[in-house]
Amino acid sequence: MYYIGVDLGTSAVKLLLMDGKGAIKNIVSKEYPLSFPKPGWSEQNPEDWDEQVMAGIKELIADIDGNEVAGISFGGQMHGLVILDKDDNVIRPAILWNDGRTTKECDYLNNTIGKDKLSEYTANIAFAGFTAPKILWVKENEPENFAKIAKIMLPKDYIAYRLSGVHCTDVSDASGMLLFDVKNRTWSKEMCEICSVKEEQLAKIFESYETVGNILPDVAKKLGISENCKIVAGAGDNAAAAVGTGTVGDGACNISLGTSGTIFISSKNFGVDSNNALHSFAHADGTYHLMGCMLSAASCNKWWMDEIIGTKDYAAEQKGIEKLGENHVFFLPYLMGERSPINDPMARATFTGITMDTTRADMTQAVLEGVAFALRDSFEVARSLGVDIKRSKICGGGAKSPLWKKIVANVLNIKIDVIESEEGPALGGAMLAAVANGEYASVQAAADAIVKIVDTVEPDPELVAKYEARYQEFKRIYPALKPVFNA
Ligand code: XUL
Repeated sequence: MYYIGVDLGTSAVKLLLMDGKGAIKNIVSKEYPLSFPKPGWSEQNPEDWDEQVMAGIKELIADIDGNEVAGISFGGQMHGLVILDKDDNVIRPAILWNDGRTTKECDYLNNTIGKDKLSEYTANIAFAGFTAPKILWVKENEPENFAKIAKIMLPKDYIAYRLSGVHCTDVSDASGMLLFDVKNRTWSKEMCEICSVKEEQLAKIFESYETVGNILPDVAKKLGISENCKIVAGAGDNAAAAVGTGTVGDGACNISLGTSGTIFISSKNFGVDSNNALHSFAHADGTYHLMGCMLSAASCNKWWMDEIIGTKDYAAEQKGIEKLGENHVFFLPYLMGERSPINDPMARATFTGITMDTTRADMTQAVLEGVAFALRDSFEVARSLGVDIKRSKICGGGAKSPLWKKIVANVLNIKIDVIESEEGPALGGAMLAAVANGEYASVQAAADAIVKIVDTVEPDPELVAKYEARYQEFKRIYPALKPVFNA
């Protein structure tokens, strides 16, 4: 039998076809527009997602018998607010995870309601991209839309709904809404009240590897898939990526260099960072995880390459970079403000330290290094909690660059395990579908059978020392510029 993993990303949806033994048979990617209606705002049209997912599935299975597709599951961009009216029509464009419009609402939640209460109810505090502050924003700024809300959904759950007719979500993605009691894996009554949300407006909660229902007969027909195909809850993209990279079990770590950049640490026990700088969320394998999320990671390099330098040949630009650890140019990667750990939607990207002899390669190098240094900021928070990470997996578009992997290994001073397939969330989604269909006894068993390490990037002590000195310099730039950003 076959399983489909749908990675509903920010710039595109990636669809992956896997057989029951874990072999990847096909991958299809379909793009959709992303709009920035005002500086710091970020929106997408859920109908565009649906259209591209349906077209993508057809293309993905064109060469196989559709009756052999036994399950479809997901990894999806987290936190996005999708609101539906009583007839399940989308009320307004989705407000995405990297949208920074909710400063006022976050201030109300964190300071008037209070961080202690939020942390007690949900294990987290308010960050601009989280879902609850966006609901308060709609209530305040678009009361006519707020009045129409019958269902509040997350991006991938909207697609699961279109496929199955069930309003569902999973524990890992629900964790990022700030309406979810992470420890007890249920909706928080207190948070619903604070945000004027009725529990019937929220979706039914599933574990990531549970089936929410069968595919709707008319959708099955349209796609050429059997009506017995199961729609499986899936996970937020980071938890799905963790499954796809085998980051399950206590203390395992995955770094994702996608549009966002994350450090994901799985944990069998529930735990909260006392400053809430890291997110405390449910994991897709039935356990928990801690996560630091930077809003712009591979997207910084994409912006620098596509928009500024004007090239598609990223590898050619990286060829000229030789003197690692000696760059005097620094880049702050805050193109969309920043979440972890500084939690500042007003932070902005900058180049610092440019001189007459600065080259294009130095600036490209600074972009790659700036992302690694900002990841290290979250890493330091994890270290301060006593989490001792010696090695990590890596996935996402940025993980395709050998140079970037080397920089990350040396800036963080850890070993980076490179896996056979870097298709984190899409593979994780397909694996969750396979677990729900009984191909594997558990998510851990699926990871043990499917994920293979093919190489390890070792940190080099001399380079680690050079980067340590650079990181200490990098750390001084944001605090110095913060008053400028906030003005
Ligand atoms: C995680 C987060 C991002 C998005 C990207 O908290 O906001 O990683 O999930 O799709």
